[in-house]
Amino acid sequence: MFATIKYVLGLRRPMGDFRIAVLASGSGSDLQSIIDGVEDGSIDGRIVVVISDNEDAYALTRAEDHGIEPRYVSRKGLKRAEHEDAVSDVIDSFDTDLIVLAGYIRILTPAFIARHRGKMINIHPALLPLYGGPGMYGMHVHEAVLASGDRTSGCSVHFVDEKVDGGPIIAQRTVPIEDGDTPETLQARVLEEEHRLLPEVVGLIAAGRVTLDGDRVIISD
Ligand code: GRF
Repeated sequence: MFATIKYVLGLRRPMGDFRIAVLASGSGSDLQSIIDGVEDGSIDGRIVVVISDNEDAYALTRAEDHGIEPRYVSRKGLKRAEHEDAVSDVIDSFDTDLIVLAGYIRILTPAFIARHRGKMINIHPALLPLYGGPGMYGMHVHEAVLASGDRTSGCSVHFVDEKVDGGPIIAQRTVPIEDGDTPETLQARVLEEEHRLLPEVVGLIAAGRVTLDGDRVIISD
C-alpha cells in the first residue's frame, strides 16, 4: 500500500542529473532500451549503475559497452536478505533517484521493497493484474496467455510493492494475439512493445511528470 505517499519522482535534482539504477539478471534487452533513450536524449537523466545477480548476464556487458558501471552482486553464501542488503548498499552508494527492475529474476523481500518504496519500477510482459504473481515470469507468462484463449496481450510498467507483480500501474501497451502464435512469437511481439514503453515511462519519470498519490499514478501533461 502507498496510502499516504504523495510523491513526485524526478523533481529532486537539476534537469539532466536524474540518476537511474537498473537491475537485470539476463540479456538486458529492456536495459538496452533505456540506454538508447538516454543516448538519444529522450530520457533526461543517466544510468549510473547496472546491477546483476548473474555474473554472466549480458546486461553487464551492455553496461560496460556504454560506459556505465557494471556491478555483479554474488548470491554465493548469502541469505536472501543479506544479498538484498548488498544490492541496496550498491544502489544507495550511487545516490540513485529511480531503480528499474528490467528482467531481474528475484522475488524481493518486503524489507527491500520498503527500503526503496516509491522509487522502484518493474516491467512485466503481460497486462497486469492478469498473468502476474509467483511463477509468472519469462515464457510461463506467454504460455498462460495463449492457453487462456485471450486475443490481446501486452506489457505493464508498475511501481513495486509487496505483492509479486503488484503495485500501482504507470502505463500499459497492448499487442494482438495472432492465430498460430507460439509462446516465442508472442514473447517477441510483446518485447518489441516493452522496448518502446519502458524508455517512455522512464523519460516521464525523469521529467518529473509521474506522481504517485496513494495507490494511483497521475501522469501530468
Ligand atoms: C521481459 O519479458 C520483461 O518483461 C521481463 O524480463 C524480460 C526482459 O529481459 N521482466 P531482458 O531485458 O531481455 O533481459
